[in-house]
Amino acid sequence: MDLDDLQRNWDEWGRRDPYWAIISRPDRRGNRWDLDEFLRTGIDEIDALFAWLEELDVGLRRGRALDFGCGVGRLTQALARTFEECDGVDIAPSMIERAHELNRFGDACRYHVNDRDDLKLFDDGVFDLIYSDIVLQHISPEFSANYVREFTRVLAPGGVMVFQLPSHPLPADERTPGLASIADDAYRAEILPVDDALELEAGVIGEIDVRVRNVSTAPWPADRFVNLGNHWRSAGGELLRIDDGRASMGATLQPGDTVQLTLEMQAPTDPGAYLMELDLVLEGVAWFADRGSPTTTIPVRVVPRTTASSRDEPEILPVMEIHGIPRAEVEAMLNARDFSIVAVQETDKAAGWRDYWYVAVKPEGTPRTRRRARDLLRRRSS
Ligand SMILES: C[S@@+](CC[C@H](N)C(=O)[O-])C[C@H]1O[C@@H](n2cnc3c(N)ncnc32)[C@H](O)[C@@H]1O
Repeated sequence: MDLDDLQRNWDEWGRRDPYWAIISRPDRRGNRWDLDEFLRTGIDEIDALFAWLEELDVGLRRGRALDFGCGVGRLTQALARTFEECDGVDIAPSMIERAHELNRFGDACRYHVNDRDDLKLFDDGVFDLIYSDIVLQHISPEFSANYVREFTRVLAPGGVMVFQLPSHPLPADERTPGLASIADDAYRAEILPVDDALELEAGVIGEIDVRVRNVSTAPWPADRFVNLGNHWRSAGGELLRIDDGRASMGATLQPGDTVQLTLEMQAPTDPGAYLMELDLVLEGVAWFADRGSPTTTIPVRVVPRTTASSRDEPEILPVMEIHGIPRAEVEAMLNARDFSIVAVQETDKAAGWRDYWYVAVKPEGTPRTRRRARDLLRRRSS
């Protein structure tokens, strides 16, 4: 996705379901997060960060902090409890609007919409801490690499940056993250759409009611990412788009249980005859069809848009893409700038990916003064 699409995508999440788009607990989908509980997750995360940095003995100063990809300010607000000043940056105007509403620290906490692939809005060397969690993973590497380079520029000498970033997708046999896993024999569903054919206008977001039954011998627990989803195929069966709509079960489905879901999906932009294939997915792990479960396909006629809305912006159904940069490249980028990489720790934020926290400290002084100091040291010791 380029940055325009990324902005439209996240702006839409910010309008539809901002807290769930940030902390995607399956049972909180559909604006079901309690705000205090949601903000508490930010406080807990930042308290754990401070404890970790203390342990790493990085000498964190509490002047100015940057929260990159701040969303509604869940983490910025938690940082603002102990930093003199905080800046939250996000690409989505809707997220930043909500962040302003939730700001409890007045001018000490500033929020900015930034739709560029750089951080030119900040001067060199102004932050004591840069923090970014569950953000870079949603950005194509050609842009995220530049943000990381920009972090190294806007961080103050002696400042600390901590960011989370996936490295590479895990091979299929390693894709068993604890949270995401379900029993091997749980991949069996019966999928019964209420309508057996559909007509949609090109590019619009449509809805279809679908009954889903767990015909396996094991439950689909509510805290696992088991969703109903759809693919688009040509009338001849060729796969055109694998990822489109998603609807979550909302509750644990025991063997034999049935639930009725409303799946939102987006019609192809070109009119014509299509097939919509419905399947279940354990996010980041597998489509049920790949484990032998039958899918259900219905014909869809896509007709030209006729409504007044056809002159508006095209509708979008927001998605969550996952991207990464290989660890070796990230480390090389930091090493090339003389940063001390204090820790690289595995995490599990991006299901199906090898995923890391990086903690790095910017060297004190300019490369020239550092070189001079090194020469001096060498002369003294010779
Ligand atoms: C999953 S949310 C995380 C929000 C926040 N870091 C938190 O943990 O509470 C991802 C955020 O990254 C933002 N984002 C995505 N691409 C971005 C970009 N290129 N620049 C700045 N923010 C971006 C999205 O708008 C969204 O608010």
